[in-house]
Formats: sequence, C-alpha cells, structure tokens
Amino acid sequence: MRRPLVAGNWKMNGTRASVAELIEALRQQEVPAAVEVVVFPSCLHLAQVVSGLGGKAIAVGAQDCSTETGFGALTGEESATQLADAGCGWVLVGHSERRLILGESDEVVSKKFSAALECGMTPVLCLGETLEQRQSEQTLEVVGRQLARIVADAGIAAFERAVVAYEPVWAIGTGLTATPQQAQEVHAAIRAQLAREDQRIADGVRILYGGSVKADNAAELLGMADIDGGLIGGASLNANDFGTICRAAG
Ligand code: G3H
Repeated sequence: MRRPLVAGNWKMNGTRASVAELIEALRQQEVPAAVEVVVFPSCLHLAQVVSGLGGKAIAVGAQDCSTETGFGALTGEESATQLADAGCGWVLVGHSERRLILGESDEVVSKKFSAALECGMTPVLCLGETLEQRQSEQTLEVVGRQLARIVADAGIAAFERAVVAYEPVWAIGTGLTATPQQAQEVHAAIRAQLAREDQRIADGVRILYGGSVKADNAAELLGMADIDGGLIGGASLNANDFGTICRAAG
C-alpha cells in the first residue's frame, strides 16, 4: 500500500565531471517500477542532474531550502520557490548534519518544512537521536519531540504530502547500522504518534531509514514492516550499490 522510496543524499560531494559519470552510471541501472527513486545532489549540480536524468524515472531533490519562500535579499540561500523552478520536487529538511553542525533548531526545521509544502515540494523530514541520547534511553522522547513540533506547526494533514526519515546520528557515515529491530521500533513509534492524530494519514506516510545502509544490509532493513525505504548517504555515490539498494526495496 505504501510505495517503497529510495533516496540518495549526495551531501557535499562531486565535481561536474564526477557528477556526469554518476548520472551516466545511474542511467544504466534497472530499477523496479514499483520503487520510487530520488537523488539529492549539491545545489551546484541540480541543473546538471535534472537535465542528465531527464527521461529516467529518478526524481531530483535539494538537500536544504531557505525558511523563506519567494525571492529577496537573503545572501547564500535558495528558496523552495527557486528550487521548484529548477526542477526539484523534493527537499531534505532537518538532516542531523544541519541540526548538529549548523545549529538548526526545531523552529527553523519547521519553517523549512512548511516552506517546501507551500511551494509544492515534498519535504523529507529527518529525525534522529545522538549516541548519548540512545545510551540514556531517550531515543523515543527525542524523536517524538522533533516530530511533535512539526505536527503542531504544520498540522497532521501536511503528512499526506511529506515523507519522514529516521536517521540515528550514531549510524550516519559510521558503518554502524541500527539493527532492523532497533529501526523498526522507532519507525513504529513514529507511525503510532502520527496515528494518534489521524490513523489514515499515519498508515499512508512513508518512513525511511537512514544510517549506513549498504548494498548488503538493505534487504533486511527494508523488509521490516514500518520501514518504507531508505535515505542513503555514502552508498548513493556508487551507482551499482545504489541500484542494488533500489532493487532490494522492490
Ligand atoms: O542522508 C543520509 C544519511 O545521513 C545516511 O548517510 O548512508 O552515509 O550513513 P550514510
């Protein structure tokens, strides 16, 4: 009932030449039609990727957007208005690297989430706990608080047009992966929290897992009941590995 979704977050990687190679390699990958695929290149390469993947059923998204929509004096920012105009249908909001390294608050994340929706983009709302929070058994509280802020501001109906990604910070880029059972527990809690607002919307929302998903562990993770796909970092830079993960989701 929920269409599997695999998202590739290229983070701060790539040159025009390496992105051209990655586009070409992605074009060679066979992806089941049942699986929705989207890649998130650096803003610098959006136009190149939108044009290079044209005709291939892989959508393109941005890694971030401004809290403000439209146009104006905001140096260095890109609005969802501009990103949508550039061919992006998707945007990551609240990635832990932005929350923790760049100091994005729940308030900022919430504004970006709403800005994306206002411009017709699908926000991928990233949630996750640090290692310290997991070790002190605060995982569900932390993730629940991050989610509650968005539900309170945007309303539950917004989740008919949004995707959630659970990414334990301690699993990102570390090679440590949450076990399928650890991930499933948090995914189920996220869905239950949304179900307390609206059961139908909770049943329909896709919740992705991110954090050291690789070609060889994807099938097991993506096979869990409440894991509807993956948000892939490092492995999305290798087209063969990314293609394998996409096929594992089907
Ligand atoms: O956005 C993607 C996540 O941060 C996961 O990254 O697959 O390199 O651990 P990773």
